[in-house]
Amino acid sequence: MEKPDYTILVCGSFRAGGESQGVCHKKGSLSLLPYLEEELTSRGLSAAIAGTTCLKLCDQGPALVVQPQNWWFGGVDSEEAVDAILDGLEKGQPAPDYLL
Ligand code: FES
Repeated sequence: MEKPDYTILVCGSFRAGGESQGVCHKKGSLSLLPYLEEELTSRGLSAAIAGTTCLKLCDQGPALVVQPQNWWFGGVDSEEAVDAILDGLEKGQPAPDYLL
């Protein structure tokens, strides 16, 4: 198995012992996963996507992290935000409008 070039963490507001309850989930963070997956494929980017527990950035969420760059983004609540982040990934620079 070939390892992906990137890991993209999307805050899913999961709690260790229960269901998603946090801000990012309420703002629809996980509803963007299909679009994110489609865009990664169409751009030929090799990335694994993971929904996470609360990333402790609730007041700036929905939060998304790109590794191994360690780029942390906030306000990722639209397809336009995903596009900007992936555009930046292709250019090697984090999208400034969403960078935390
Ligand atoms: S619920 Fe997403 S950062 Fe806290």
